[in-house]
Amino acid sequence: MDRIRIVGGNQLNGVIPISGAKNAALPLMIASLLTDDTLTLENVPHLADVEQLIRILGNHGVDISVNGRRERQGESYARTIHFTCRNIVDTTAPYELVSKMRASFWVIGPLLAREGKARVSLPGGCAIGTRPVDLFIEGLTALSANIEIDGGYVNATAPEGGLIGARYTFPKVSVGATHVLMMAATLANGTTVLGNAAREPEVVDLANCLNAMGAKITGQGTPTITIEGVRSLSGARHRVLPDRIETGTYAMAVAMTGGDVILEDTNMALLDTALEAIRRAGAEITETNSGIRVVRNGAGIKPVDIVTDPFPGFPTDLQAQFMGLMTKANGTSHITETIFENRFMHVQELARLGAKISLSGQTAKIEGVSRLKGAPVMATDLRASVSLVIAGLAAEGETMVSRVYHLDRGFERLEEKLTRCGAHVERVSD
Ligand code: UD1
Repeated sequence: MDRIRIVGGNQLNGVIPISGAKNAALPLMIASLLTDDTLTLENVPHLADVEQLIRILGNHGVDISVNGRRERQGESYARTIHFTCRNIVDTTAPYELVSKMRASFWVIGPLLAREGKARVSLPGGCAIGTRPVDLFIEGLTALSANIEIDGGYVNATAPEGGLIGARYTFPKVSVGATHVLMMAATLANGTTVLGNAAREPEVVDLANCLNAMGAKITGQGTPTITIEGVRSLSGARHRVLPDRIETGTYAMAVAMTGGDVILEDTNMALLDTALEAIRRAGAEITETNSGIRVVRNGAGIKPVDIVTDPFPGFPTDLQAQFMGLMTKANGTSHITETIFENRFMHVQELARLGAKISLSGQTAKIEGVSRLKGAPVMATDLRASVSLVIAGLAAEGETMVSRVYHLDRGFERLEEKLTRCGAHVERVSD
């Protein structure tokens, strides 16, 4: 199994190209199930989760061809992928495939909308809380689907003639359930109004792509999304938006090590709240023609308190990385996690590097230390694993991160991007 070896102490200086967003690419790929025409997606990141979803979609009958890599500095960072689902050949998404990644459960929306039935295994994914599927079930039921849970599978059927548009208000904001309800409603009879919908940029990206395919969606990016059902959708060409979590992660890495880096092909509007927190921690952040410049020279890291929230709040997917940064602040900070109940597994690993963190319920208290010291650590989930990389970059000596398959799920060419900016990071294969 691969490990990542980091020798800390170097500043980061240079340019980091930001990839297409994993969390947008996954629902966009799933949207290809809604049409018998070709959906072409540009700027798709090369990640384990994308490859896994390619296998799942192939199982349902989607033909997939990859071309048009975007070359930069002699490396390919993005792909154009064509998805064509002439016929859905199988409406079952089996446990063996779905258990590896929670987002694969989302095929339930398009399968139900286009074929009138779906049998989808209950999901797996990162172990960061119980992550139930009650909102999906409640929402699809509001669209008149009949749903039964049996033997670890969700069996869903639409009424004769298809799903029926309805008004549904989510009792809690859910990104995945918003994606699924929006996709399902595009082909329903009549109009659907979703209340308390997720406002994340990835939801907006999916709505824009669905509209390019002929859907009639308005209100994306606000809490109320209206979807007027249409008879069928066509193909389209769509560019996946930049990865705001990758952007924030590298911005925090620069704030941690010091240096001067341009994050290319991304934009500040995607992550205002997180950038504001990084600024308050002592980095200068400015917009450039090609992206975002992050600089920290001389000044120390200041303690900053944050609370995670649905968009436009501080993203839970950057919480672990921000904690990594705060371990070296000149003072005490507090981080409160409100989205997932078990998202502090990085705390004990950061402690192995010398961080001083105590937990009280959903709040972590971080007492900044002047030095971290390299140690062997273990990645526990996707975002937690990269917080260990951030801490390792500023730790004295060698940090060896094991279980890096978590990193490979969400960070494209991490070690190359960091090495080009002067970090000492390498992949070690056993
Ligand atoms: C997505 C992101 C993930 C991010 C999360 C929150 C993708 C592929 N993943 O995950 O990186 O951390 O949004 O921004 O885009 N919930 C329920 N019942 C449900 C569904 C969700 O109680 O039926 C709860 C969850 O347990 C969690 C909260 O709602 O506590 C938010 O989860 P949700 O927004 O659905 O996360 P995902 O879509 O799985």
